[in-house]
Amino acid sequence: MSEYCIELSNITKRFGKFTAVDNISLKLESGRIYGMVGPNGAGKSTTMALIMGSLFPTSGNGSVFGHPLASPEALKLLGYSPEFTSFYSDMKCYEYLWYMGCLSGLSSKDAARRTEELLEQFELKEHKDRKVAKFSTGMKKKVSLAQAMIHHPKILLLDEPTANLDPTSRQEILDTVRRMVQDEHLTVMISSHVLTELETVISHVLMIDHGRLILNAPIAEAQEMFKQGILWVDTSDNEKLLSGLAGTYNAELVPGEGVRITTKEMDALKKDVVRLVYSGGMQLNRLSEEVLSLDSLYRQMMEGEKNGSDTEKDASENAGA
Ligand SMILES: Nc1ncnc2c1ncn2[C@@H]1O[C@H](COP(=O)(O)OP(=O)(O)OP(=O)(O)O)[C@@H](O)[C@H]1O
Ligand SMILES: [Mg+2]
Repeated sequence: MSEYCIELSNITKRFGKFTAVDNISLKLESGRIYGMVGPNGAGKSTTMALIMGSLFPTSGNGSVFGHPLASPEALKLLGYSPEFTSFYSDMKCYEYLWYMGCLSGLSSKDAARRTEELLEQFELKEHKDRKVAKFSTGMKKKVSLAQAMIHHPKILLLDEPTANLDPTSRQEILDTVRRMVQDEHLTVMISSHVLTELETVISHVLMIDHGRLILNAPIAEAQEMFKQGILWVDTSDNEKLLSGLAGTYNAELVPGEGVRITTKEMDALKKDVVRLVYSGGMQLNRLSEEVLSLDSLYRQMMEGEKNGSDTEKDASENAGA
């Protein structure tokens, strides 16, 4: 067995001339939660579909615990909650889960036993005889998650499991994921548009944009990378302060607010500001610090990508999408 639970090597997926997944390579380790973030159309769902074997790559390859993508062995190890689940309109919750269990290869008896277990675990027991198609969005997401777990997979691929949910239901889903990882030593790949939402749950960030993997890092490392501080300073002579900082720091005058300075060296900056204020005989009205969130870093990276890709990619390449 491979030491990695998922390995992708230079995997590319084109739809006609349009490249949805662009030469992605990655290695995922067991027992971790990977957050896949990126804007609409970045290639998150396509990447998951490639791992699930429901799409074939145009080039490149990959494996699941050493088994080639789309092989029966790989499929047995994967559980998948798609972005959009269409439930058979007449099926009740119990029937649906049991049926999905049978489809995944469990015997009728085992599927029934597993269904009972999951109904309990996902607090769906009292709704088991109701039609899933009539459930609320949050309950449907839970059923979709339970369905992904029906055959005891080792890896869960969750495509936007919290989309369109209220904050309480979102938290509930994320808590469930966290608990499942702890109890069953699962590996999870979870996609979302909202990085801050995943921040407390994931151990690694996979940032994807225009089909390319632009960041693959442990969450702590990503937070450190993005840990750019902002210092707000307001003095009796902001112009003078600004000219003192020019050349050394990235500073700008914000009317009505003061001087906004961004830096990764906050301690040195504070010392320099105090020195300039003191030596320039200025009066200090405000000195406050702000830490950039991971989300604003994400936005910055996406901006960078957008600017870069405008020049790199031939616009006509996208026209065939
Ligand atoms: N079957 C298909 N045929 C043609 N283009 C496709 C197909 N599937 C996906 N695409 C295109 O590939 C790109 C990536 O789509 P994908 O669904 O993977 O993005 P995503 O990151 O999941 O986006 P979202 O956040 O909106 O779910 C999009 O531009 C999409 O239009
Ligand atoms: Mg998607």
